[in-house]
Amino acid sequence: MKRFILLILFIITNINFTNALAASDVVFPADWKSWTSVNTTLTGIGALPDCAADVSKLPTIYQKTVETYCAVKPGGPGSVAVLVKPSALQSFEKRDGKFADGANLILHLKDMKVLFVTSHKTGAPSYGVFTEDGKDITAASGSLAAETCNSCHTGYQAFCKSGQCGSKK
Ligand code: HEC
Repeated sequence: MKRFILLILFIITNINFTNALAASDVVFPADWKSWTSVNTTLTGIGALPDCAADVSKLPTIYQKTVETYCAVKPGGPGSVAVLVKPSALQSFEKRDGKFADGANLILHLKDMKVLFVTSHKTGAPSYGVFTEDGKDITAASGSLAAETCNSCHTGYQAFCKSGQCGSKK
């Protein structure tokens, strides 16, 4: 019986843990509003749609992105912008992966008022999720977890370079 209670306690604590926020190691770029908005494949589409949208004609990574985020809000995440730190613009355009340390790239989910932020440290990318006013809402698991960002941004090697997936159009 004691063991059973311990097991239940263990499960409950773990559930709480997986739902908890897991602050990212990204430092919030407070000056993000002055960053450069760029045109990419995704901004050309204009928005991340809901789960009913037919995205079968898009490259697999975009299908996977829609699949990951279509349900975060009824009707889909909605309109997006890609913002690049002005000093990182050249690297973004060239896709040379030469990003300086710190936050460099943002996927702005405008309707959700959320910023997906990619930061670099000695060239290695890391990921965080913030509200527009800088609250770190990176989750410990699920679609807003840094590990989820990493699995796609690093997993699609043919498509993404040093954490950068999109290209300037
Ligand atoms: C299933 C794949 C996938 C996941 C998961 C994902 N992304 Fe992306 N992300 C993309 C793709 C594809 C683009 C490029 C879209 C475009 O502009 O054409 C992108 C674009 C971005 C950009 C703009 C710069 C760039 O790389 O082009 C940032 C910043 C970004 N994502 C951060 C994040 C963060 C932070 C997370 C986790 C919360 C995340 N992403 C999760 C696929 C993904």
